[in-house]
Amino acid sequence: MPHAQHAVPPADNDIDAWAPDSWRTRRALQLPQYPDLAALAAVQDELRALPPLVTSWEIQSLKQQLADAQEGSRFLLQGGDCAETFAECNSSVISNRLKVLLQMSLVLVHGLKLPVVRVGRFAGQYAKPRSADTETIGDTTLPSYRGDMVNAPEFTAAARTPDPRRMVKAHARSAMTMNFVRALIDGGFADLHHPEYWDLGWVGQAPLAHEYQRMVGAIGDAVRFMETLTGSQVHNINRVDFYTSHEALLLPYEEAQTRQVPRQHGWFNLGTHYPWIGMRTAAMDGAHVEYFRGIRNPVAIKIGPSVAPDQLLRLVDVLNPDDEPGKLAFIHRMGATAIADKLPPLLEAIRREGRRVLWVCDPMHGNTEATANGYKTRRFDNIRGELEQAFDVHAAAGTRLGGVHLELTGENVTECLGGARELTELDLQRDYRSTVDPRLNYEQALEIAMLIVRKRGEIAAD
Ligand code: PEP
Ligand code: CO
Repeated sequence: MPHAQHAVPPADNDIDAWAPDSWRTRRALQLPQYPDLAALAAVQDELRALPPLVTSWEIQSLKQQLADAQEGSRFLLQGGDCAETFAECNSSVISNRLKVLLQMSLVLVHGLKLPVVRVGRFAGQYAKPRSADTETIGDTTLPSYRGDMVNAPEFTAAARTPDPRRMVKAHARSAMTMNFVRALIDGGFADLHHPEYWDLGWVGQAPLAHEYQRMVGAIGDAVRFMETLTGSQVHNINRVDFYTSHEALLLPYEEAQTRQVPRQHGWFNLGTHYPWIGMRTAAMDGAHVEYFRGIRNPVAIKIGPSVAPDQLLRLVDVLNPDDEPGKLAFIHRMGATAIADKLPPLLEAIRREGRRVLWVCDPMHGNTEATANGYKTRRFDNIRGELEQAFDVHAAAGTRLGGVHLELTGENVTECLGGARELTELDLQRDYRSTVDPRLNYEQALEIAMLIVRKRGEIAAD
């Protein structure tokens, strides 16, 4: 019956046909070739038996906060490393990253007069898409490094062979990271009475330190004023909500984190609060979209300059068929030279159809370039340029930019050019640590937060 299959409706929207492993029937890009499939299956069983990293309640409360961001009553700050590494799962890297995110969110809350949704790119950001499946040096061709969850970066056959046991280690590292972040926050690390807890050692000399310290002083005065007035401590400012996210690229891992929970219908990915689909794996008929359509987490998709409006609308239909608030975000990452042309038709299509979407700007990934001396870098001016244009383009389209997605670190690295300290190509040699994409350092990240406040103020005043 060669024609019979044409009579069968497409399975795209058929949630009954979905299962945590139904992605296996679709084309899966960017997945490693594991040499030992029995070992892979054994690892998945092991992961399925371990406790989850997050709960469905947390996921639902994040979804509510994202719904607020869609409506303009919150702003999303999502940031962290391009890739976490096993070696950098340590106390200072984790707490420094948290400090930067807390400082940025303080700048945003104070300047925007809005609560912030805080989402880290951490506790699971261990798998990376690559532009080529293999790498050749001299006469040797080996699989590309795909993140610590898959293989190791050294150029040897042993290091580059995908090893499923790395998923177990990534899960444990994610749990340790999450445990430390939760303990810090529950212990009062984020307490607004003590913003000095978040100071990084070398902040005193930063060009923006003065502006930041003045703002912290003003907030401290306001808190003390309220406390004098009411005669009691202001509560609810001693802790914050913090959520986790990562690119849910390695589907065998994500599948094993996908669970049902008592008294809730459907399936949750309990390995992270907020998974996203990377630009390279966002094809409608691909395995990643198939996996994502069945989970109840809020989800995001990275979209680049080659996405057409009708593709975007089909993604909305498949990933958020019921138009659920807070469910779906598009993270646009066009590049400073493309955003003004490429973004407006996408915004217009979604607006015309009246679909609920959270728009987020990633001003990093469309602005990556290589320097003459071989460093992968990004110019602060291009990052700033894309972000500023994003606010303008949304304002012109009658849509709302509800958040930002950034690659940053609390370490004093020199990976992106420019910023208040005007880092040059020569500076890159001083402290370039990323094995993947260049990150904003503390000062550059804080500058971006201040810029968002300024730019949004200008838009509101127009
Ligand atoms: C990333 O976020 O590190 C990444 C690879 O992004 P994109 O999918 O947008 O290229
Ligand atoms: Co990156």
